[in-house]
Amino acid sequence: LVADANRGRRRQLHVGTAIMPHLLDDLKYEAVANEHFDHVVCEHHHKWEPLLAKRADGTEVYDFTQSDRIVDWARRGGNKVKGHTLVWHVTSPKWIEEAPQARLREAVFEHIKTTMNHCLGKVYAWDVVNEPLHPDATGRLADTPFLRKLGPAYIDDCFRVAHHTDPNAVLILNENKGEGAGLPRGRSAKADALFALSRDLLARGVPLHEVGLQAHFDAAGTGQRRVPTPHSVARNIARFGDLGLGVNISEMDVRAAGLEQVGLGLAQRDAAAAAVFHDTLAAALAQPAFTGVTFWGFCDAHSWCHDFYKCVDRPLLWDAAWRPKPALAAVRRAL
Ligand code: XIL
Repeated sequence: LVADANRGRRRQLHVGTAIMPHLLDDLKYEAVANEHFDHVVCEHHHKWEPLLAKRADGTEVYDFTQSDRIVDWARRGGNKVKGHTLVWHVTSPKWIEEAPQARLREAVFEHIKTTMNHCLGKVYAWDVVNEPLHPDATGRLADTPFLRKLGPAYIDDCFRVAHHTDPNAVLILNENKGEGAGLPRGRSAKADALFALSRDLLARGVPLHEVGLQAHFDAAGTGQRRVPTPHSVARNIARFGDLGLGVNISEMDVRAAGLEQVGLGLAQRDAAAAAVFHDTLAAALAQPAFTGVTFWGFCDAHSWCHDFYKCVDRPLLWDAAWRPKPALAAVRRAL
């Protein structure tokens, strides 16, 4: 895939995937990942809580074994590695809920430094803060211990600590459901909030370099969950580009199981998902600010969607039997 993306193209784009360490024992998984992608992210193991192991006395110690396995494998294959994610309330140690303000501030800054220093020279970019916006898409920040105890400037502070730790790292603000601009009936409210947040961070001199749009799409989505139009994604990328920011699609997968409710058979559902992959990526690729795409896995057998959405879906590029799906051909056509 990455060869298709960059054949005859001046601007090198990354084409990446999220990786789970234990799956690297699967020779087919490892071979397909090596062949098709040049950019790797730990699907789960660079997050705060997964990096902490418990000693016998209950104290915590960093254990990079799992994430290092992915990073070392990626670098042996000549791939770039993006870190995901330093500050996310969903996968932080549970004690941050009760930690006093001073303790939390010290702990999150220490976490950023420890994690980035461990990866110095191996990880070129970091999702510094993930999903900072409130899901109600009113523009306010998500009600997390970070916001409650450290105030809205926690985002500024985390980016500044990250930049001080690794001045060469590309620092990214990553968000979901904020992919399309200019959509009707409030469907771009979160995208507008992400744009305003990014603009304000830059205005305060915060070292923000790129924005990640997760693009967890549902081809059966309606209302606020409807897939943003390709034009709205292009417009969104363009306006971040006008701020001088790069934009990547950071966690792309396209569910379609819900289309069964409207009578679409499997082939039609796969085709609908393929069209979303193609149209979104073709629109994004036309934007100078676009830096590349990371798929949130590549084989249907190993998608987070099954656990999270509690349904068997086909959101990725190869099916569970490793048969290439229409989505793979669609991504090739787009790239
Ligand atoms: C998910 C992983 O895919 C799962 O394996 C893990 O159990 C939970 O996190 N948005 C994000 C990702 O930014 O980190 C999440 O990944 C999916 C939603």
